Amino acid sequence: MAISIKSQYEVELMREAGRILALTHDALKKAIKPGITTYDIDRLGEEIIRSYGCIPSFLNYNGYPASICVSINDEVVHGIPSKERFLKEGDIVSLDVGVIYKGYHSDSARTYGVGDISKEAETLIQVTKQCFFEALAVARPGNHIRDIGAAVEAYADKWGYGIVEDLVGHGVGARLHEDPEIPNYVTVRKGPKLKPGMTIAIEPMITAGTYQVRWLEDDWTVVTMDGSLAAHYENTVLITEGEPEILSRADGVDL
Ligand code: MF3
Ligand code: CO
Repeated sequence: MAISIKSQYEVELMREAGRILALTHDALKKAIKPGITTYDIDRLGEEIIRSYGCIPSFLNYNGYPASICVSINDEVVHGIPSKERFLKEGDIVSLDVGVIYKGYHSDSARTYGVGDISKEAETLIQVTKQCFFEALAVARPGNHIRDIGAAVEAYADKWGYGIVEDLVGHGVGARLHEDPEIPNYVTVRKGPKLKPGMTIAIEPMITAGTYQVRWLEDDWTVVTMDGSLAAHYENTVLITEGEPEILSRADGVDL
């Protein structure tokens, strides 16, 4: 499929989807405490999304059975919420959330510490976030998709971290996953050129150890091969003539 260029009106809808998504993340962040189950997080998330008249993007997507992906410690992405899974002090937890507003998706992810976490875990979370901002800085017309991966790789490498290669960022809009794919590493090909009106989800998935991952028996949960911690940071971004615009944000909510 060709890469879609969004109209002003489509961008307007995606901005609103992104605003609601940011408010949802903000509410979920406040609920992250030892003792809460990943099921509770999913229930709360879906409730908030629907309270804005939106639909959770992930629910039933390729059969995914919940609204929020909740991934703990060595789980990288796509953890399935469960009544038996409790957050505990010292864990790190990644929340990946998507909302549909008037037919348009916004997709973003954050990793949080549960109570006090180790210095190592805190650094991984911060570096993963910075990987996104390194990528954002080169998300400009004239540059190519490869420049995004190169920026993530250069920064993650400085820390000796693993970059997950089996999952990638993506175009986003009327569908959750659109072209192009956006790897978090340097590819042989330059890939498509970035153009104003493209909307993309940039989402580094970084580990404290190996880049290698495997899928659990549930066919969803992706974990690090070596059991090392993983973090995820994602936003939906609009390519403009100048500075890229983060669409998955809201006034008064920290990125
Ligand atoms: N948020 C994921 C992404 O960024 C997609 C989740 S897929 C689902 O691409 F099936 F779990 F919903
Ligand atoms: Co995504």
